[in-house]
Amino acid sequence: MKPVKVGICGLGTVGGGTFNVLQRNAAEIARRAGRGIDVAQIATRHPNPACNIGDTPTTGDVFDVVNNPEIDVVVELIGGYTLAKEVVMGAIANGKHVVTANKALIAVHGNEIFAAASEKGVVVAFEASVAGGIPIIKALREGLAANQIDWVAGIINGTGNFILTEMRDKGRTFEDVLAEAQALGYAESDPTFDVEGIDAAHKLTILASIAFGIPLQFDKAYTEGITKLTTADVNYAEALGYRIKHLGVARRTENGVELRVHPTLIPADRLLANVNGVMNAVMVNGDAVGSTLYYGAGAGAEPTASAVVADIIDVVRALTTDPNNRVPHLAFQAESLSDLPVLPVEQITTAYYLRLQAKDRPGVLAKVATILSERGINIESIMQKEAEEQDGLVPIILLTHRVREQDMNVAIAALEALEEIAAPLMRVRVEQLN
Ligand code: HSE
Repeated sequence: MKPVKVGICGLGTVGGGTFNVLQRNAAEIARRAGRGIDVAQIATRHPNPACNIGDTPTTGDVFDVVNNPEIDVVVELIGGYTLAKEVVMGAIANGKHVVTANKALIAVHGNEIFAAASEKGVVVAFEASVAGGIPIIKALREGLAANQIDWVAGIINGTGNFILTEMRDKGRTFEDVLAEAQALGYAESDPTFDVEGIDAAHKLTILASIAFGIPLQFDKAYTEGITKLTTADVNYAEALGYRIKHLGVARRTENGVELRVHPTLIPADRLLANVNGVMNAVMVNGDAVGSTLYYGAGAGAEPTASAVVADIIDVVRALTTDPNNRVPHLAFQAESLSDLPVLPVEQITTAYYLRLQAKDRPGVLAKVATILSERGINIESIMQKEAEEQDGLVPIILLTHRVREQDMNVAIAALEALEEIAAPLMRVRVEQLN
């Protein structure tokens, strides 16, 4: 059989890794795919010193690849929304299959892209868009297809996890660790996407759609970053037996889907609490299988290339199949997607860590307890520390049982209105993951 011709758009970190893996493992890949895979053209504005592309034809214009009649599969590794979307939509319009690692593009424009692809009978594969080298999309979409998925929780931003790990283990500053993540090629070109949870929300949006069979709804995801966390909170969490992780949580409830990314206390003995550095992990709970866990490198050239190349192999195998009998893009048949709403964050239910800075006076703790109990909020544990020298305020740390977020908001407003409590207080959500 003739080799399949692939065009790579973008020869940055992931593009370079993809080219190198395709070359190095060409024989093994051909044994798996049933035919060879040739890189027929690369679109790039800059050479990648990590790649020896030899005499592979190159162009500075991505549309040369999109419009190249020789090419069967366009691999979009440019990133961003605008040009990447034109490349993907152009390739689909030309009847070409697409492989992309672009989570932002899929999370924001995926519904439109998949509709166009289905119309044309082509595949858009996006395994590398979530958790780098971990085959979580394949696991959710195919391996767990028997299950009703109840929840998904993951550490799905390597940069953020690297920052939290280094802050906790080595006492390094936020800025110092972020600069290292950028130098290592893990961070997004706009690192606020990493530390404010936007990158994780893109990925969680994709996971939730595949888990629950709902359209992609990035605009409804609740996103909170890690920039307000202090070393004191990290240490208090440890003292209570918890770790703070930047978690993406998608949970199906009777009323709708919770879709949220925020710092989260999780018990220190959970496997997820021990996922450190740039590593990612995703926990999936299904009604038949129970809890499952997927762990691996969530970023970097070759881990991400591992997922891109696996998608290319899948597409090559699908070339001769009936388009109506392929695995649906979002796991469920497009006409069977559900209209289960994504809940506003006020409607979610979770437990809370609260840190209050209180004046050291008799009766303060009683007032705090009264405000919480009047709103039906059950305290699980309470810890009071020594007064801090600078301001003389006493840190009071509370863990609550699960409560609706809107009820907690009302309680927090009442606590902050107390004359003895400095506002704003610190609130971090808590998940037991059991
Ligand atoms: N910036 C992302 C991360 C890269 O740190 O996880 C992989 O999507």
